Amino acid sequence: MELDIIPACGLNILAKNAFGKTDALPDHDLIMLKNRQQRRLWEQKIKLHKPRLNHILELGIADGGSLPYIFEICDADFIAGVDILPEDPKIRSAYNRSTMEGKFSLNFETDQTDRAALNKIVADNFGDGLDMIIDDASHFLGNTRASFEILFPHLRPGGLYVIEDYTWSHNEAFAMIAAKRYSGQPMTSQLVLEFTMLMSTHQKWISRVVADYNTITVVKGPAKVPDPLSIKDNTVNWAPLQMSKLAGPQ
Ligand SMILES: C[S@@+](CC[C@H](N)C(=O)[O-])C[C@H]1O[C@@H](n2cnc3c(N)ncnc32)[C@H](O)[C@@H]1O
Repeated sequence: MELDIIPACGLNILAKNAFGKTDALPDHDLIMLKNRQQRRLWEQKIKLHKPRLNHILELGIADGGSLPYIFEICDADFIAGVDILPEDPKIRSAYNRSTMEGKFSLNFETDQTDRAALNKIVADNFGDGLDMIIDDASHFLGNTRASFEILFPHLRPGGLYVIEDYTWSHNEAFAMIAAKRYSGQPMTSQLVLEFTMLMSTHQKWISRVVADYNTITVVKGPAKVPDPLSIKDNTVNWAPLQMSKLAGPQ
């Protein structure tokens, strides 16, 4: 198994694959579930992006290592994290002794589909809008779409909405957990098509949709996006293809 120690924000982050277990872990402050290939893609994405990504929100904190990593590679000003799990005090204590001290907001026991909670996190921390939102939470289609519809209107023009691990239904690495966790669930990969259809209908809301094997990146266009946003209600469909059939259960 790949195990790397990545220094970020004055902490030692142990980076490992999401899959597979090992008993012997080197000394670390926090764990991040991003392997070398995923980190390479992240670092390329950030390098290519101008201007700087200052204000960041990540859905899916897990063991806490991804926030300092993202904060460091973006040279960010503030980062907020959301997770449905109860708070793990070791994450806050690590952040308090890091260079992110005073520049983060941790929000546990918060569902990625909780509109009121997410809007409050944005209002409390990102009054001028966000530069990047990362969804690395449940990866279920309905949840992923719901978070996008809540949060995308808060992105600044040129900002990035990044969805991780959306290919669980097609990627061999996910085969074991996909069989257990995602059995019978609609494919999250159909979001690529939904975003593309929304972009074509409203070309000033989305300027680009970029997909690689692991992430979808939706780049915010120059126009204000209505809040609340509904992808389905804002996608014109001249063909006989039915959005309701594509979308599956919400
Ligand atoms: C893949 S892990 C996140 C990994 C982390 N971003 C990293 O790179 O190390 C997914 C996390 O999403 C959280 N999660 C799952 N469903 C969620 C939901 N409905 N709302 C918020 N968080 C959720 C899980 O508790 C888990 O901690």
